[in-house]
Amino acid sequence: MEADRLNAPDTSAIMFEVLGHQLQFAQDPNSKHLGTTVWDASMVFAKFLEKNSRKGKFCPCKLKGKRVLELGAGCGVAGFSMALLGCDVISTDQTEVLPLLIRNVERNTSRIMQANPGSDFFGSIEVAELNWGNEDHIKAVDPPFDYILGTDVVYAEHLLEPLLKTILALSGPKTTIMLGYEIRSTNVHEQMLDLWKRNFEVKTVPRSKMDTEYQHPDIHLYMMTLKPLEAGARVRGQCADQQIEETDAADEVKVDDSGIVDEADDFKLEEAKSEDIVQLKYLPNEKLSEWEARRYGAMAARLLRDVKIS
Ligand SMILES: C[S@@+](CC[C@H](N)C(=O)[O-])C[C@H]1O[C@@H](n2cnc3c(N)ncnc32)[C@H](O)[C@@H]1O
Repeated sequence: MEADRLNAPDTSAIMFEVLGHQLQFAQDPNSKHLGTTVWDASMVFAKFLEKNSRKGKFCPCKLKGKRVLELGAGCGVAGFSMALLGCDVISTDQTEVLPLLIRNVERNTSRIMQANPGSDFFGSIEVAELNWGNEDHIKAVDPPFDYILGTDVVYAEHLLEPLLKTILALSGPKTTIMLGYEIRSTNVHEQMLDLWKRNFEVKTVPRSKMDTEYQHPDIHLYMMTLKPLEAGARVRGQCADQQIEETDAADEVKVDDSGIVDEADDFKLEEAKSEDIVQLKYLPNEKLSEWEARRYGAMAARLLRDVKIS
């Protein structure tokens, strides 16, 4: 687990401006739990929402009152951004992460309320325990949801299956699943895409739709909806102890091999360009932005992880 930590929580809180609001997310530098750090994909997602909130499906007039379930919320950046657009959000995670998540949700909510008295743009946000695959936890949040959200929740092979089963159990035919994550293992990435393409129409958000600064070639955002199924191809709403039945019919549902599918809405699917190269420049006299500093930090952590001291 620790080997996968790339973003060292060297500060106990980060300030993050999104949708015109100054937010503060506490981290826990003393915790080894991955959920007590703000991960970069959550910021990319929040800034993507900001950029696309003026019109289309992420406009507050379309999102007001939509039910959102965030999986593996960690410090809660992504879910909170949906609440800023009027959604009713349930941010979930494992029990160890909940005290910090609750603190971040409560503090930012009161910050927003104090700064905007009488305004009703803010939806709502509550916190709940949800361990992937736990049937009781899933039932308690009352699925299905309009949106299921998860940032940087795909990082280990053994989590792919419980995550998928949980998403299926929380989804209905109209659910949109939004996942953002940083590719750290080609193997996990390929397995994940394969699993998802069997079950969902998968669209990749092009980088041109992301914030010009808050993006990175390794960080991908996906929008997915359930594939229409032939009877019995998959049992929806099942949990971890039930088998997902996938038939060949599910594989036959047409998804362009290149990953390019026409969009009914604002987004055009684009295959991730794994050949993209990180462009890091030496900037002797220029001050790094917070985002650039984060990305340098992530790269350094990755390099250090790969260095074997004998
Ligand atoms: C890398 S962190 C990402 C946190 C946050 N979404 C972000 O982007 O900053 C992964 C999150 O997934 C959660 N997680 C991992 N396995 C889980 C499981 N089996 N059930 C529920 N949450 C899980 C962790 O607790 C952690 O908060």
